[in-house]
Amino acid sequence: MFSWPSFSQNVSLGEKAFNECRACHSLEANVNLIGPSLAGVVNRQIAADASYRYSKSLKNATGTWDVSTLNKFIENPQALFPGNRMPYSGLSNAAERKALIDYLMTFKP
Ligand code: HEC
Repeated sequence: MFSWPSFSQNVSLGEKAFNECRACHSLEANVNLIGPSLAGVVNRQIAADASYRYSKSLKNATGTWDVSTLNKFIENPQALFPGNRMPYSGLSNAAERKALIDYLMTFKP
């Protein structure tokens, strides 16, 4: 019988999906790699980490990284904010994106 994954099963799927991101992003506050730290990114203002130099594209973006915005960004970063400097083509699997965002939510700034 099919049943939806529990939140914790989903988080471990999300941890695996984060392998797509970890070369460029840490989950430790204030530790920037090629990209800014993603600790506490969920519901944070776009381009809000003062210790990171964002592209004009992200600096000029308004709003917050709510679940819906993050979901669109991870699916196709260039479609949502053209000209941003994140060299990632996108994660097409919706269940993996959802799990990844649940995982990111567990990291506080
Ligand atoms: C090859 C490197 C690379 C990979 C892989 C990558 N990113 Fe990024 N990411 C960046 C860079 C560089 C930026 C800054 C872009 C800019 O300033 O335009 C960024 C920016 C971001 C931001 C904006 C953060 C903020 O503070 O506004 C989010 C969210 C993000 N990435 C999420 C992800 C996720 C989730 C993944 C994995 C699915 C991922 N990235 C994969 C390099 C990468």
